[in-house]
Amino acid sequence: MTDDAVTTRRLRVHRFKRGDHQPHIEEHDVPVDERTTVLEALRWIQLHQDLTLGLRHSCFHASCGTCGVRVNGKERLACVTKLSDISGTVTVDPLANLPVLHDVVVDMGPFVARYPEPHPIVRGSEFLSESRTADGIDEHERYEDCIECGLCLSACPVAATDDTYLGPAALAYAQRLLEEARGADRDAILDWADQDTGAWRCHAAFECTEACPSDVRPAQRIMALRKELRHRRKDRDLEVPERPSSASEASA
Ligand code: SF4
Ligand code: FES
Repeated sequence: MTDDAVTTRRLRVHRFKRGDHQPHIEEHDVPVDERTTVLEALRWIQLHQDLTLGLRHSCFHASCGTCGVRVNGKERLACVTKLSDISGTVTVDPLANLPVLHDVVVDMGPFVARYPEPHPIVRGSEFLSESRTADGIDEHERYEDCIECGLCLSACPVAATDDTYLGPAALAYAQRLLEEARGADRDAILDWADQDTGAWRCHAAFECTEACPSDVRPAQRIMALRKELRHRRKDRDLEVPERPSSASEASA
């Protein structure tokens, strides 16, 4: 928060703690200026009004992916969402389709678990040999481009009704590896994606692409993945599942 705060905004914040029967909303009036972000406002509440408010963040500049929330129902990175870009009352909820741990903090375990171990599309970081890892961590893994924020999963209407769906981020990364083919085992990747809970489960709603803050374009990548799968199934005289598709996929 800067010194030139000029006005007050009301935030409605989702509250939930272990042992609560139901979540509830608490309202806070927060001093803000033109540049105040949702994350700064939440931090102000935590520092000045309620130390027990649970939130998660790290980088403050849209690279760590830890501060994802829903702001007035839309998936956003709280650290780069300015309150001045939102009119009226601001309601902050945790991401959807993931278990809520505490207030607006969700358990990212089910997001990461969508990348099964051992997995053909996950590889160790190239920087591992020059970097130090934190105590208790043997190695880092990364999924190129994606900041692993989970916004796409939160926005996905399929994930809302089917928690077995592999989801936009993991499928997008699989397609990215096919595209770049840096030593990837194409058949292993396609086998993994070619399952009922994989690429065929997508309804082509494109909500994930709209939510993604990192230009991964997961929906387009899932459509590209299905195009590859469709050709592979035809080559093998296998049935091609009928699924909702984008215009570009339908013409492939
Ligand atoms: S694909 Fe985009 S929205 Fe999904 S986890 Fe990665 S960066 Fe976040
Ligand atoms: S705090 Fe790192 S992405 Fe928002």
